[in-house]
Amino acid sequence: MISIKSKDEIEYMRKAGYLVSLTHKYLKPFIKPGITTRELDKLAEDFIRKNGGIPTCKGYEGFPTALCTSVNDEVVHGIPSNRKLKNGDIITIDMVIGYQGYQGDAAWTYSVGSVSDRKKYLMKHTEEALYEGIKQVRPGNRIGDISNAIEVYAKRHNLGIVRELIGHGIGTEMHEDPEVPNYGKPHMGPKLKEGMVICIEPMLNSGSRYVYQLDDGWTIKTSDGSPSAHYEHTVLVTSDGYEILTPRLDDEDV
Ligand code: MF3
Ligand code: CO
Repeated sequence: MISIKSKDEIEYMRKAGYLVSLTHKYLKPFIKPGITTRELDKLAEDFIRKNGGIPTCKGYEGFPTALCTSVNDEVVHGIPSNRKLKNGDIITIDMVIGYQGYQGDAAWTYSVGSVSDRKKYLMKHTEEALYEGIKQVRPGNRIGDISNAIEVYAKRHNLGIVRELIGHGIGTEMHEDPEVPNYGKPHMGPKLKEGMVICIEPMLNSGSRYVYQLDDGWTIKTSDGSPSAHYEHTVLVTSDGYEILTPRLDDEDV
């Protein structure tokens, strides 16, 4: 069942999404060589709680922390640790925040110091793939239109599309219907209606699409060791298009 949010619920979703955006913006200046992913997690958790939010990932099916921090060939669900970031790394920070019972979810890949052209290409085109998907969001279009736009864009740029993990609906729960794959056929799948809220989140690899899970039960890595990027927005279907509920506030200087 795909829920349709009321006006009041949308207001709560907007606030939850905005706190996600603020937390990303707050973290960005700390993403420098030498900081550990655990320190980033602590900064995030304190900031989220100080602002009245709840870090939804912490405790979700046993996940231990507020953030997922996935470095280089880690695709998603990396667990913050005493790993120090190094110049040339890329790190995806993914977070879900509950605010007055409603959830916001957004992931960004950040560069640490100066990164290779290959990583820059990956980041630029993964973010662009997300926006290609978002451009398909309007009442009457279908989930497959989003999926296909991402697939076509990723293939055109020779990036491997991770298939094992997909986007999702969101509301009072972090994962709701519908599923939002990053590949698929146009005009297929559930129809979008005003008031639906979905998370669109391409995970693209510099190399092959194949991934595996570490023994920690969470971290997903690329099978060939190639770098991976992940960009995610929480998106509301409006009467004539979309509204991004997790706007980027952190790239004013990019
Ligand atoms: N943004 C991730 C998702 O869409 C969040 C996973 S959090 C975890 O699934 F709790 F599962 F780690
Ligand atoms: Co998500």
